[in-house]
Amino acid sequence: MPNTIISREIRLASRPHGLPTPANFTLTQTELAPLSDQQVLVRNLYMSVDPYMRGRMNEGKSYVPPFELGKVMDGGAVGEVVESNAKEFKVGDAVTSNFGWREYFTAVPKDLHLVSRELQPLSVYLGALGMTGMTAWCGLNLGEVKSGDVVFISGAAGAVGNVAGQLAKLRGCKVVGSAGSAEKVRFLRDECGFDIAFDYKAGPVVDQLNVEVPDGIDVYFDNVGGEALEAALAALRVHGRIVVCGGIAGYNAEAPPPGPTNLFNMITKRLTMKGLLVRDSLDRQGEFEQEVGGYFRAGKLKNRETVVQGIEQAVGAFIGLFAGKNNGKMVVKLI
Ligand SMILES: NC(=O)c1ccc[n+]([C@@H]2O[C@H](COP(=O)([O-])OP(=O)(O)OC[C@H]3O[C@@H](n4cnc5c(N)ncnc54)[C@H](OP(=O)(O)O)[C@@H]3O)[C@@H](O)[C@H]2O)c1
Repeated sequence: MPNTIISREIRLASRPHGLPTPANFTLTQTELAPLSDQQVLVRNLYMSVDPYMRGRMNEGKSYVPPFELGKVMDGGAVGEVVESNAKEFKVGDAVTSNFGWREYFTAVPKDLHLVSRELQPLSVYLGALGMTGMTAWCGLNLGEVKSGDVVFISGAAGAVGNVAGQLAKLRGCKVVGSAGSAEKVRFLRDECGFDIAFDYKAGPVVDQLNVEVPDGIDVYFDNVGGEALEAALAALRVHGRIVVCGGIAGYNAEAPPPGPTNLFNMITKRLTMKGLLVRDSLDRQGEFEQEVGGYFRAGKLKNRETVVQGIEQAVGAFIGLFAGKNNGKMVVKLI
């Protein structure tokens, strides 16, 4: 390593109760150890903040271990190789990784994934061509979404939602989205190609679905849970499908929110409800990159993002997810 590298990083200071606050995090500086054999030094260019990280701030067993107190929060990032002692990577290569909320890190090749620099900005690898885009693609596959389906997506203006909507349009579906403001409704209709969009804060979701899609929906792509799930259960047609991707409406609840009051629809309408975990499909990443990367390169799929500048803004960007501060993927630009 030519010079000493000082890297800033964000650590978990305490576990939140309800909505996280800046006091739950600390921004600190650390000096990186000299690069050893087979190691690569990476400077992150963009890092991701994601709703699932809220769950990892809690103690307790889940599908992924909790963040440790006093340790750096890990998560998706895209960066460039600054120095390499490994034959697999050379200086200037763009790589994705999961080392998260820090400016620089050292890693071994198996923990880095080479991506093409041709696609710009590289933050696309956190959005449409990254974990959230892949979640959208996996969710549509899980729900066996096909041409002619009427698909309702909640949290539609976010990272997963907007890509799910764009991909469903490419499959020949009629796409309906809900989001939390009039500006987001316009974004969904005018920029993401949704057929129908409505503001879930403007009136009961069940009533708005009744007005917008009186003949019902075939598929519900759930990013939110709560009221949206209950409304979708009412709107689904016989043999309808629900893809359960997320439940952000409940992530900051201090006690589990009550479940839908109308689950009986599962029986009367013979509905199917499937849970999605994108990490189950990592073996399909190549297929995802080929199909969805192809749409992106052809200009058929747009990467939508909200970019904040600087690691010192990361905590605010993360907390902002729970107040709907993002259109598309929320990313933090580090240089
Ligand atoms: N299962 C998996 O493998 C997997 C993978 C990735 C993500 N997910 C889940 O997918 C969902 C979307 O993730 P994302 O990364 O795309 O996040 P995102 O949608 O980009 O950001 C979160 C959005 O949620 C909405 N929101 C916040 N609080 C809400 C509330 N109380 N009720 C309704 N909407 C609320 C906000 O938009 P509004 O302005 O519209 O409220 C906000 O912009 C999350 O639930 C996440 O946990 C699951």
